[in-house]
Amino acid sequence: MPLVSMRQLLDEAAKGGYGVGAFNVNNMEQIQAIMEAARETRSPVIVQASRGARSYSQDRFLYHLMLAATELYPEIPTVLHLDHGNSVETCKSAIEMGFTSVMMDGSLMPDGKTPSTFQYNVKATREVVEIAHAKGVTVEGEIGCLGGIEDGHGAGLDGLSHLTDPEQAVEFVKLTGLDALAIAIGTSHGAYKFTKKPTGETLKMERLMEIHRRLPHVHLVMHGSSSVPKDLQDIINQYGGKLKPTWGVPVEEIQLGIRNGVRKINVDTDNRLAITGAIRKVFFEKPEEFDPRSYLKPAREAMKKVVALRMTQFGQAGHAGDYAPVSLEEMAHRYHEPVAV
Ligand code: G3H
Ligand code: 13P
Ligand code: ZN
Repeated sequence: MPLVSMRQLLDEAAKGGYGVGAFNVNNMEQIQAIMEAARETRSPVIVQASRGARSYSQDRFLYHLMLAATELYPEIPTVLHLDHGNSVETCKSAIEMGFTSVMMDGSLMPDGKTPSTFQYNVKATREVVEIAHAKGVTVEGEIGCLGGIEDGHGAGLDGLSHLTDPEQAVEFVKLTGLDALAIAIGTSHGAYKFTKKPTGETLKMERLMEIHRRLPHVHLVMHGSSSVPKDLQDIINQYGGKLKPTWGVPVEEIQLGIRNGVRKINVDTDNRLAITGAIRKVFFEKPEEFDPRSYLKPAREAMKKVVALRMTQFGQAGHAGDYAPVSLEEMAHRYHEPVAV
């Protein structure tokens, strides 16, 4: 089946009351890991690429790898999504290349660091919605800012100063007509999210519930959702790494989010940790090895395990065969119908 729109996957997830992991990729092995995990667990899939990933992979390579994925895994509904598009132009270029979903992250200015104004965010997101929906492509927007600057995203905030305001979220959805809304509830990107295990308090789950109460039909997105498992940290440190003690987002909190309107869950760091741990282990145990396959295969396998586990925990497992793909043309047609908010 061809690449499908994210809107279709998220609508189905809302009907079924489950969440869908969105996993970041930069190369072939990561795409293979996700697709294998999807086949094993019979899950629909969101593969996402950041601007950094597009530039690392000369995005045409990435796009064709994704076409290969649709050929080799025809039974899996698969979305190719742009993660954290920083401008209308970036989103446009992704749509032109064949991405079936884009994120216009207008919560920050195009530098990806400076918090923007509400007006700027509405204008940029609305513009992307018009361009994308005409082609049946899905749009994710963001209101509020995540914390953290470790990976070049976020505004260097403490994660709490720019939480999403529920009233503004309602206004934002009305004014933009987007499909999915990323909210800031205290998470941040990268491995160093919390210095101790976060509670529902630290994570402001109440605020998430309030947003869901006000926008019951909007698909919510949780960024910065890696759990940063201790066992993955330990493998890295056991084989010469130097990670400082850290905590991520507990899976139970994500599951609570899923019961309250979260349909897309962004995970990158956990997979980075799994890959790095597996590679370090081979380098440490078999220093004589120099065939890249000797460490890339275990790395791919380690990522597959993490992804398959998350797919099961988020509830998307078993749902790959629930529905037939809707073409982007048909999606474009459907956007002409008024959408209830
Ligand atoms: O949003 C952050 C993702 O982890 C992608 O990170 O910009 O380093 O590719 P990146
Ligand atoms: P993590 O760094 O927690 O994996 O978050 C990834 C993310 O939000 C990508 O947009
Ligand atoms: Zn993110």
